[in-house]
Amino acid sequence: MKPVNVSDFEKIAAEKLTQMAYDYYRSGSHDEITLSENIEAFKRIFLKYRILVDVSKRDLSTEVLGQKISMPVIIAPTAFHKMAHSDGEVATAKAAGDAGTIMILSTLSNSDVEDVVKASAGPVWFQLYVYKDRAVTKELIERITKAGCKALVLTVDAPILGTRERDVRNRFNLPEGLSIKNLLPLNKDKLPEMNDSGLAGYAREHLDPSLSWKDIEWLKSVTDLPIIIKGIGCKEDAALAVLHGADGVVVSNHGGRQLDTSRATIDVLPEVSDTVNGKIEILLDGGIRRGTDILKAVALGAKAVLTGRPVLWGLAADGQAGVSAVLEIFRNELDVAMALCGCDSVKKISGDLIA
Ligand code: FNR
Ligand code: LAC
Repeated sequence: MKPVNVSDFEKIAAEKLTQMAYDYYRSGSHDEITLSENIEAFKRIFLKYRILVDVSKRDLSTEVLGQKISMPVIIAPTAFHKMAHSDGEVATAKAAGDAGTIMILSTLSNSDVEDVVKASAGPVWFQLYVYKDRAVTKELIERITKAGCKALVLTVDAPILGTRERDVRNRFNLPEGLSIKNLLPLNKDKLPEMNDSGLAGYAREHLDPSLSWKDIEWLKSVTDLPIIIKGIGCKEDAALAVLHGADGVVVSNHGGRQLDTSRATIDVLPEVSDTVNGKIEILLDGGIRRGTDILKAVALGAKAVLTGRPVLWGLAADGQAGVSAVLEIFRNELDVAMALCGCDSVKKISGDLIA
């Protein structure tokens, strides 16, 4: 059966992946209420369409941080792509570049950043986890800058890792031969053997839970790259991000993997959009599974969305071709949604489309 939508890809991925890998990718924290709420919240929002508008030509392109992209969909940073496919992050980057969009590479990738940047015809941004050892963090930033990454996406919703109970039961660890590749020279490339999750153990050991707003100043002192703060969950923090000179924010709850029962991101977006009021760019992720979800997020104030799990399902199903197929499904579904709403350009998507 040929997959025609994102959930078809998940079914194929579920059959191909090991239980440990599938569980890691799909999990949310605790009761997974936020994981499902991210998706359910989109279903509660209804669209108002307009008729008799010429939609014979439609323009899906937009810009993020001055970078033109072919559609408002960016690859979210997700860890460990080689658990899905032996080509790993390189395959994902090729697909992103071919689709005319941006890939955000996770700190926890199984591939060298240089190989990922070379593989993509488009820009690569780097998602940063801040290590307790700031010298390690600084060296990592220097390396990814030299490799050609164009922005830093600082993830701030994970001072410690949320509890994903499937990972605890599986005693999650990386399969033999895979490592946190970019931390190899810094001697932090292995997950410890743990009674719970090896990843939770790694985070406890190395990632800095003392990170605070003053570290944004520190970050700015060690890099000239634009800084996007990922993990914004309320208007108060959006205001602080503007105050501290962030170039952008991602409204995100980490795909429901951190604080369970935190709000769906699409429900948070309107207050963030009101507060930011155009001063910096807003992105959103969590629960994007259909073109109409993308349209709703843009209508409520996001410049673009990030997609996490759907890309992993594509990668697991068919490597680079699978990621490309998932991105083209999103493109096609957004195109159909725009046409049927009477909207011929992403730049014209506005709150008027929300019923
Ligand atoms: C993630 N996410 C994530 N975020 C981040 O900043 N660094 C990371 O390394 C990871 N790793 C990661 C692994 C897996 C398996 C998932 C599912 C998610 C969160 C990710 O960037 C994004 O916020 C969510 O995936 C968005 O939700 P959807 O699109 O998966 O619903
Ligand atoms: C996760 C981390 C790696 O969500 O961000 O698994």
